[in-house]
Amino acid sequence: MKEVVIQTKVTSCQQHELPQELCELVETAKRKTQDAYCPYSHYHVGAAVLLSDGQVLTGANQENAAYPSGLCAERTTLFAANANNPHTPVQALAVACYTDGHFTADPASPCGACRQVMLETEHRFGQPMKVILYGERECYLFERAADLLPVCFTSDSLS
Ligand code: THU
Repeated sequence: MKEVVIQTKVTSCQQHELPQELCELVETAKRKTQDAYCPYSHYHVGAAVLLSDGQVLTGANQENAAYPSGLCAERTTLFAANANNPHTPVQALAVACYTDGHFTADPASPCGACRQVMLETEHRFGQPMKVILYGERECYLFERAADLLPVCFTSDSLS
């Protein structure tokens, strides 16, 4: 037996240190938190994607009285973007969370299912998708979705 350390790479920064188009994408995700439908958790999540043709599309979490029927902001946004632009790669995704009257201090942390969907998006277009997780104290910039999900399950795993 041997112990294996699996590392991932992330850049910690302030929003204003990001390249302008990513800084603007974060601002859009922050704005979008206000459109969340979250009467049960009161946890507002906003997301914004930048497509390779320059389009910016947005989404927010959608809750449901039957709790599992709701959907996170990231998947709401990626599914809508991919369904309406099936041949246009997603270059970047920004996520922000707002609760108790303020944005979270720590970077937003996407759930496992959303990470899996981010990975699939990256794979289907065959190019990296940057992921920016907003926090008031610091932001995380991942150069590719795969960096959020080491030891992942992909279409390669099926063959
Ligand atoms: N949520 C997201 O939208 N994205 C995440 O990555 C984590 C959680 C939503 C789901 C639910 O509406 C609320 O936040 C509380 O879990």
